[in-house]
Amino acid sequence: MQRLRTFLDHHCDNEAVTDIIDGLMVACKDITHQLHLGSLAGILGSAEQENVQGECQKKLDVISNDLIKDTLANIDAVKGIASEEEDEPVACNANGDYLVLFDPLDGSSNIDVNVTVGTIFSILKAAPGSDAASQQAYLQAGTEQVAAGYVLYGPSTLLVLTVGKGVFSFTLDPRDGEFFLQRENIQIPAQTQEFAINMSNQRFWLPQMQNYVGDLLQGEEGPLGKRYNMRWIASMVAEIHRILTRGGIFMYPYDNRDPSKPGKLRLMYEGNPMSMLVEQAGGKASTAFENIMSVQPEGIHQRVSVVMGSADEVATAEKYHA
Ligand code: AHG
Ligand code: MN
Ligand code: MN
Ligand code: MN
Repeated sequence: MQRLRTFLDHHCDNEAVTDIIDGLMVACKDITHQLHLGSLAGILGSAEQENVQGECQKKLDVISNDLIKDTLANIDAVKGIASEEEDEPVACNANGDYLVLFDPLDGSSNIDVNVTVGTIFSILKAAPGSDAASQQAYLQAGTEQVAAGYVLYGPSTLLVLTVGKGVFSFTLDPRDGEFFLQRENIQIPAQTQEFAINMSNQRFWLPQMQNYVGDLLQGEEGPLGKRYNMRWIASMVAEIHRILTRGGIFMYPYDNRDPSKPGKLRLMYEGNPMSMLVEQAGGKASTAFENIMSVQPEGIHQRVSVVMGSADEVATAEKYHA
């Protein structure tokens, strides 16, 4: 059984990125511990304040953001951070070369019901001389990511990671606090019979998306010619983990509930890192019109339409939008 640090020392030829990932896991182990204690640690419920996204923060959104922020600020290689829960980026170490963007707690509506949540992260190289306290330094397309991953806090805690050479997963052994290599070179099957979308938003989608999902629902009697099953956990980490395990298509598409926002999910903290993982595993990640990682970001909290997972199914969804 290979330890995470040993794996990174062999697999990742970038010492700074190794240090960042290894260091980040200290915070994620702490989050695991808080989640296991649950109400005993007083972490459930609302923080009764809004974040910059206009969402009501959960206590654990704030706690996990603070844990990750403090941990990253103490890693020399980290020049700056940007988070779903922070209004503006935060400069860390002037001599650092890397920027870390994160969703400290994904799926936070699930905390109080004791269902899977996660942490998502994306690592970018800072341009020489860039100002890590300004958004501009972070506005790089997803194709520029040097590493991305998520930690899933479920029945077990898992790290799923790419440094641009395939996707690997690790299981946390709670007995000694070490992550051990679980699956190597994870591949997403090209075809699937499982889709994930929040159907309650159907009337707000583009007509193209309504047609596509309508055809999925028709099963073997429709033009797609096969029967589909549906899942919705409301935690992107859990949905993408299922897709990396057995295939599937995950969608949080454009909708017109709020015309100022092209979708719900955040490009920099959710769309890009998950796209890198999915593409590194042989899948596809699209807005339904173009690759998510080709989108040039204009703001760190920018939203994006998401259609990702099994390559052939995502290609079919794109055809409905062509
Ligand atoms: P977050 O908890 O980080 O704000 O993200 C929640 C996201 C994502 O994980 C999930 O797929 C989606 O929001 C669920 O949204 P709905 O509640 O609209 O289904
Ligand atoms: Mn949120
Ligand atoms: Mn999220
Ligand atoms: Mn979140």
